[in-house]
Amino acid sequence: MSKIRVLTVFGTRPEAIKMAPVIMALNKNSSEFESIVCVTAQHRKMLDQVLDLFSIKPDYDLNVMKQNQNLWDLTSDILLGMKEIFEKSKPHIVLVHGDTTTTLATSLSAFYAKIPVGHIEAGLRTFNKYYPFPEEINRVVTDAVSTFYFAPTQRSVDNLINAGIQEDNKIFLTGNTVIDALLYTVKNHKTNLSSLDLDFSLKTILLTSHRRENFGKPLENICIAVKTIVENNPDVQIVYPVHLNPNVRETVYSKLDGIERIKLIKPLDYAPFASLIKESHIILTDSGGIQEEAPSLGKPVLVLRDETERPEAVDFGTVKLVGTDTKVIVNTVQKLLDSEKIYKSMASATNPYGDGLASERIIKAIKDNIRILGKD
Ligand code: UD1
Ligand code: UDP
Repeated sequence: MSKIRVLTVFGTRPEAIKMAPVIMALNKNSSEFESIVCVTAQHRKMLDQVLDLFSIKPDYDLNVMKQNQNLWDLTSDILLGMKEIFEKSKPHIVLVHGDTTTTLATSLSAFYAKIPVGHIEAGLRTFNKYYPFPEEINRVVTDAVSTFYFAPTQRSVDNLINAGIQEDNKIFLTGNTVIDALLYTVKNHKTNLSSLDLDFSLKTILLTSHRRENFGKPLENICIAVKTIVENNPDVQIVYPVHLNPNVRETVYSKLDGIERIKLIKPLDYAPFASLIKESHIILTDSGGIQEEAPSLGKPVLVLRDETERPEAVDFGTVKLVGTDTKVIVNTVQKLLDSEKIYKSMASATNPYGDGLASERIIKAIKDNIRILGKD
């Protein structure tokens, strides 16, 4: 029997991290699968460092990124660019991940070409059209055109069933591949953080913020909050790897550059970033992936958003939603710094998002359900 041709498509840093273990699993099973990789390069630099780390050499590269790009150009460039790649690579299935513009445009393009789509990290929802924007609608549309759904948690399975996707054999509960990537990286790529010039005798708060909903005032509020936190706590340092998006950089550098014990750094490669999570005391973030990773390493996460599509860790008690109100952020961090009891109750190392075997489950599901793909 001929091999199953699987085309994996991704474009941003988080997608690359979460797709890398799937590509590794496909390569490990190369007697059954032909793995074809296409990057859109929606992120150029932040993507390439992940490709290097996991030794992924894309077969196709759309190279779409523009400085300060907009959703219209990005979507149309990818929608059209993928048409040609489908014609050349003739995949049996296209795998996309999560909720980015790369995912939306690739899924739609595959649907137009009548190629089955497998959606990894399917079923996440806030049920608020504009929050996160445009990600909520990106994942709803991707789920609408998909054939296979690889859901990370039971809650995401339930969301899909409630959305009317009822054929059991198409929804698979797999766990999140980010845990596969994290465990692999922590085990195989230990990194020395000395080049960051941080003082780890201080309590380290790791901060990341890049979401569109937080551009402008909310991000300014976050900056004022962290400034207040270091002023009130001489034993605390803040480290912020600042996303390359100019909308983020302008606000952050104008508000926080040069402040003592606040270190603004370039986005870190994934391996040192994973080590930095391990060295940190508290994580402040609006990232999706970091909410999923940090509980595995026993770190409390305060989420700088009003809503999350990842409520599982909130239920487990390791993640708390604090939004972007300066006072709420300052007060919640202070409680965690002052009370060992509160800190310990959040720093549990239980992770609802996976056990490191999600990628294996995904490729097994594809193999076991090959007939649905119309392949003999
Ligand atoms: C995108 C995703 C978001 C995801 C985030 C992860 C969409 C609509 N948004 O948002 O869901 O959480 O990635 O980081 O898909 N840039 C560079 N080099 C890079 C990466 C980005 O210069 O390597 C700059 C460019 O100016 C680019 C801008 O960042 O135009 C914005 O990138 P874009 O992918 O449009 O938005 P993100 O905020 O990164
Ligand atoms: N990350 C990284 N370097 C950084 C910041 C984040 O490698 O400087 C990793 C992080 O561990 C996680 C992923 O990037 O796996 C999350 O990406 P991001 O926050 O950009 O996107 P989101 O998860 O919100 O879509």
